[in-house]
Amino acid sequence: MASEKAAYAALAGRHILLGITGSIAAYKAAMLCRLWRTAGAEVQVVMTPLAKQFITPLTMATLSKNPILVEFFNPENGAWNSHVSLGEWADCYVIAPATANTLAKMATGVADNLLLTTYLSARCPVVVAPAMDLDMYAHEATQQNLHTLARRGVRIVEPGTGELASGLSGKGRMAEPEEIAAFVNELLDGGRKTLAGKRLIVTAGATIEAIDPVRFISNHSSGKMGYAIAGELAARGAEVTLISGRTALPVPPGVKRVDVLSADEMYEATVGAFDTADGAVMCAAVADYTPENVSQTKIKKGDGEMYIRLRRTRDIAAELGARKGNRLLVGFALETDDEEAHAQSKLEKKNFDFIVLNSLRDAGAGFRGDTNKVTLIDRAGSEELPLMSKREVAARIVDRIEGLLTR
Ligand code: C5P
Repeated sequence: MASEKAAYAALAGRHILLGITGSIAAYKAAMLCRLWRTAGAEVQVVMTPLAKQFITPLTMATLSKNPILVEFFNPENGAWNSHVSLGEWADCYVIAPATANTLAKMATGVADNLLLTTYLSARCPVVVAPAMDLDMYAHEATQQNLHTLARRGVRIVEPGTGELASGLSGKGRMAEPEEIAAFVNELLDGGRKTLAGKRLIVTAGATIEAIDPVRFISNHSSGKMGYAIAGELAARGAEVTLISGRTALPVPPGVKRVDVLSADEMYEATVGAFDTADGAVMCAAVADYTPENVSQTKIKKGDGEMYIRLRRTRDIAAELGARKGNRLLVGFALETDDEEAHAQSKLEKKNFDFIVLNSLRDAGAGFRGDTNKVTLIDRAGSEELPLMSKREVAARIVDRIEGLLTR
């Protein structure tokens, strides 16, 4: 018992909502619940109607020390089981076992039981531990659903390979309770305020360079990567100033946003804030050129060609690099050819501690999408990460920042 407490130290006092669906692996949910309770977590259990056929509510109520929730309301007295307050209560929602059916419903937003409505309203991290037959797991439909969920930030504890309830052997066995408990422990440990007291600047989005009151020069950057990084830094307790070009993205909780339009405005805001910061993450796609003269009135079209003379903008990252001292500076490079060499040269030229390389040649990387595939490069070498959601990429980048700022 003492060893379980130590192994899952981040779980003490945390609220875990356990969702159980109709799978033979539901028996492992009992063990999972016991592990969490021993580690000092509070556990509530929501079950699908079918799950009751696999493990009794009495078992789960006894282990979790809370009544089990299955229906939208209590048929005896009409009391409403609020999925919204369940979602708000939880620090983490873990659906284990998660059947192919429930994963498909989650991926498409079906809300026909309490477990699913709670998923749709939960704002906490959501973890699924799939459990099914090997062919169901390997089926393109299931894999696509898992991909969709991962892209939306749902964490997946991969099933293991071995003997299945069907008698067949292959991949589909739900991960063991100890593995799921450790996964959740790590996830919630990341929720601790490891960057408390650190001040960080993040630049994000595209700049807009006016030609006249109507037209401008800009680029395709959506700002999603920078917003995800700002959110992750703030979630770990950092004081974050997000210097943002125009986007429709919501400001992540706890982040202070400063809106700018042009590269010049971004320069002023960023350089001004750097003096009192511990570091900056340069995620913005800043225009390299801006019109030399901005017409005060709308330029009228003529018959012939027209030329706009552009002047160079100032390089914000290079400026911070020159005055950085022992502050942290992280850069981005979006390349289309000879990627690593270009990123290496930017690392040196702008004095970054590390640089995040995106190649437009990689499927799923770059603008607008919710996924990214990046390589992290510093002076010691490079680490190529697989395709992940931008949220996960942000977590990996912030892991590095945390390592550098807290060593
Ligand atoms: O040289 P390049 O624009 O490719 O460098 C990309 C990196 O430099 C990014 O981190 C970007 O945010 C930053 N940058 C900047 N100011 C500029 C141009 C780029 O901060 N004017």
